[in-house]
Amino acid sequence: MPRSLDDATLTGLVADSTAAPSMHNAQPWRFRYTRTGHTLTLLADLDRALPEADPATRALHMGCGAALFNLRVSAAHRGLDAVTALLPDPSAPAVLASVRLGARADTGPAPEDAALAALHPAIARRHTSRFPFDDQLVPEDVRTLLSEAARAEGADFSFLASPHLDTVLDLIREAEECDRDDPGRAEEQRHWTRNTKTEAPIDGIPDYALGPRDASEHATTRDFLGGATVPGRARVPFEKRPQLALLTTPDDHSVDWLRAGQALERVLLVATLNDLSTSFSTQPVEWPDLRWLLRDPVFGSGHAQMIVRLGYGPTGPRTPRRPTDQVLTIEP
Ligand SMILES: Cc1cc2nc3c(=O)[nH]c(=O)nc-3n(C[C@H](O)[C@H](O)[C@H](O)COP(=O)(O)O)c2cc1C
Repeated sequence: MPRSLDDATLTGLVADSTAAPSMHNAQPWRFRYTRTGHTLTLLADLDRALPEADPATRALHMGCGAALFNLRVSAAHRGLDAVTALLPDPSAPAVLASVRLGARADTGPAPEDAALAALHPAIARRHTSRFPFDDQLVPEDVRTLLSEAARAEGADFSFLASPHLDTVLDLIREAEECDRDDPGRAEEQRHWTRNTKTEAPIDGIPDYALGPRDASEHATTRDFLGGATVPGRARVPFEKRPQLALLTTPDDHSVDWLRAGQALERVLLVATLNDLSTSFSTQPVEWPDLRWLLRDPVFGSGHAQMIVRLGYGPTGPRTPRRPTDQVLTIEP
């Protein structure tokens, strides 16, 4: 009979989980632990959905999938078995995953648990970096590790080469313009951007994490300020040929978005352990017409879930998270 977890272990698990990335740092998750069932349930917090940019809640599921992956890593690091089920209750779509946690048998960790536990140090080190990277190429062996990480979670992760890379860069710019011309989305972005001179945020994107603006018109990072000029925000040159990779899944339902989120976080943690900095460019994924065009014209049969920019450069700053006691409830 497994023993129920103590509060400190639960808090540690949830703190690791919530270090995950989420769109606009909305942190659209809640956790419920039932002592009798030894189960930690991950729920969508629909009050934190982004109805303008993410009406289908695809990005919400991806952020929660990333949080679930961190939870699995944290459990493996603590020597716990984590039996995970995605969407365990078909009548309750906001119940995204259940994770039954118990002490691991004395036989020691299975190879997959050891692989997950090895990623634990990267959870606290991983941050989105919206800064320029240098032109050093990501070596082939590291690219292979990243695509293996995605494949382990049921997704594909491929670096883009010309002419597909040029198409995707054009689509990012086109989407950025569409965002700017859409008052609802622009307002939603502003709503989740935080001025740390006037507030101490627990969510949203703090101004110090936005990075400089690109001096050219080739930026791949999202312009959260809608083109507004902010005193003191520098314009600097970014890399001329950003190294972008596309994360795709074979299908496109809520369970696939949860898998995509887990694959994304696995890729990001492996990247972090290999001293890579990362950021995201999801603007074209959020416009259905443009999303379709992101597919590789020759090989692409999957559904585009995320565009990741990788390279060697400054690590991003730590961004705020809601305290654990605001997201975790413990039931007898
Ligand atoms: C589904 C998803 C979409 C995102 N889209 C973007 C994006 O288009 N541009 C961007 O700069 N960051 C994007 N992010 C990153 C979040 O803004 C970031 O994770 C959040 O602000 C927390 O910061 P951190 O990653 O440094 O912990 C996205 C994250 C997720 C999970």
